[in-house]
Amino acid sequence: MSTASHALAHLGVAPSASLTRVTGEHVAALTAFLDEADLTLSGLDAPSVRLWADRGPDGTITGSTGYELSVDRRHALIRSVAVSPAARRAGYGSALARFALARAAEEGAEHAWLFSRRSGPFWQKLGFVAADRDAMATALADTHQVRLFASTGQLAREVAWSRPLTGGRGDG
Ligand SMILES: CC(C)(COP(=O)(O)OP(=O)(O)OC[C@H]1O[C@@H](n2cnc3c(N)ncnc32)[C@H](O)[C@@H]1OP(=O)(O)O)[C@@H](O)C(=O)NCCC(=O)NCCS
Repeated sequence: MSTASHALAHLGVAPSASLTRVTGEHVAALTAFLDEADLTLSGLDAPSVRLWADRGPDGTITGSTGYELSVDRRHALIRSVAVSPAARRAGYGSALARFALARAAEEGAEHAWLFSRRSGPFWQKLGFVAADRDAMATALADTHQVRLFASTGQLAREVAWSRPLTGGRGDG
């Protein structure tokens, strides 16, 4: 059983679930899933973006998670955390977010950041606090999502959140 399966089983959520890395031809299905969740779709196939998906018995994506690292790997931009509507409010999204935080910490990231206009309370429960979006844009200037948001002007409308990554576990 993978680390992710343990995390999800521990929460009593989708005990048979297992997260798999999403690359290549599988990006299309994840793009459709994230479109339903109204999340950013571009850059999903960029080598710097790490993505995982969880699937139900029929292969349909039920949850996803991921992040992008700054070039110096000190900062992680969490993105693409989503749960299918029917599976929400059962701890699944928290487990998916913690998985990304733990993987980013394992890669050496010291600080996690994300943009979220709608889901602040969810991220606050995971230890995130409101952050300065320009500081975030500076720390993660070379990431796909920051470059996209800066070039389209969306950056000025975004809400930034951050938390330190301590101990390499990504929980808290
Ligand atoms: C945000 C999202 C991933 C949460 O997934 P989830 O499985 O419902 O999350 P959890 O069950 O782990 O929620 C943990 C806590 O976060 C809070 N929370 C979750 N969704 C919330 C929402 N929409 N509004 C306010 N608080 C919310 C709640 O306090 C919840 O605890 P509770 O159910 O005991 O009250 C899911 O709603 C989703 O996919 N939304 C669309 C995509 C998105 O906005 N992703 C985040 C940006 S990357």
